[in-house]
Amino acid sequence: MPDPPKRRDFLGLAALWSAVAAMGTALAGVMRLPKPAVLPGPMRVFKLGDPAQYAVGSATRMEAGGFFLFRDEQGFHAISSVCTHLGCVVAHTEGEGFACPCHGSRFSTDGTVVGGPAPAALPWLEIVMSPDGQLQVNAESQVPKGTTFRV
Ligand code: FES
Repeated sequence: MPDPPKRRDFLGLAALWSAVAAMGTALAGVMRLPKPAVLPGPMRVFKLGDPAQYAVGSATRMEAGGFFLFRDEQGFHAISSVCTHLGCVVAHTEGEGFACPCHGSRFSTDGTVVGGPAPAALPWLEIVMSPDGQLQVNAESQVPKGTTFRV
């Protein structure tokens, strides 16, 4: 009958296998580094139809696009509905601005931070007229606050 392994031999083998497992895991991590963890998504351009369908004074939430479309006497502007803190969707209240339900950030009617942990204002998004006569918002492209698209 063979002798049971000595305690010192067992601990030595366990340490050796632990070191091999740690090196293998580290090597797997190094091999993954060149691959991007986040892949680019599709272009986020949204056609919103005939401008005439939006009444002066209207605020329309575009859920799929992640923004609000506003029309006033000067024209159109689009403000992101994605909170700049951790990305929750903000709610809009006419005349009061925006409020984030997650951690309480509040934004004025032009998206300026007026309270809470949000580190930056809600971005204004680019609006253009598409060749087929529809309003088009590019949710990837920001414009300076106050930029109005006139029709
Ligand atoms: S995600 Fe809006 S306040 Fe945190």
